[in-house]
Amino acid sequence: MGKAQTKSRQRVRDHGEVFTNEREVKAMCDLVKDETERIDSRFLEPACGDGNFLAEILTRKLEIVKRKYKKSSLDYEKNAVLAASSIYGVDILIDNVIACRERMFKIWDKEYKAVCKKDCNDMTREAVRFILKRNIVCGNALTLKCVDENGNETDEPIVFSEWAFITGFQMQRSDYTFAELLAQNDDKKQMRIDDTPSDEGTFLKKYVTHYRRVQENE
Ligand SMILES: C[S@@+](CC[C@H](N)C(=O)[O-])C[C@H]1O[C@@H](n2cnc3c(N)ncnc32)[C@H](O)[C@@H]1O
Repeated sequence: MGKAQTKSRQRVRDHGEVFTNEREVKAMCDLVKDETERIDSRFLEPACGDGNFLAEILTRKLEIVKRKYKKSSLDYEKNAVLAASSIYGVDILIDNVIACRERMFKIWDKEYKAVCKKDCNDMTREAVRFILKRNIVCGNALTLKCVDENGNETDEPIVFSEWAFITGFQMQRSDYTFAELLAQNDDKKQMRIDDTPSDEGTFLKKYVTHYRRVQENE
């Protein structure tokens, strides 16, 4: 029997919480198959629930990483980090957000263990946990504001990090408000990677570190 599609009437009434079943998730992902199989293609789900779509996308990306890089633990690891770092979600309910992050980490770590075995590194695991924490956000996708653990909307804007390998092991994180990314998308622009603040001041900050230490820039 598949996973239940609803948790309670109250949650359906208050938040429209109805989960998509696996068969539909797979069929919808097949509509953008090439993108789901590109390691660094970016996906954002603004009402991600506990991650039915995001988990499928991560699984597909990791399958490609394994196919291409399983012979080198280091290459596998870097590309698996890149795969996780390109997937984003927002949900208004904190329990969904926590469940989504945990589910994504378990998928990631199971594959990591299976491929890299004794070469697995706990700092990389912590880095991936950190990336998932930043990428899967508790917020209101309509107002673009963060929601706190009590379910109250805050004044804090939702901020997303763009992650990219720049040289060798160095990973760059560039933070943008969700509002800025949507405005850029409307203008058919790419995400900016320069560090010049925009006129609106919505580009926030850039960090560069070894990819195993991204969590040091909390
Ligand atoms: C129809 S469910 C879909 C869940 C998941 N995408 C799936 O297909 O299984 C809608 C989700 O959106 C969330 N949600 C409702 N209003 C929202 C809002 N304003 N911002 C962010 N998430 C919201 C709910 O908590 C719920 O998890």
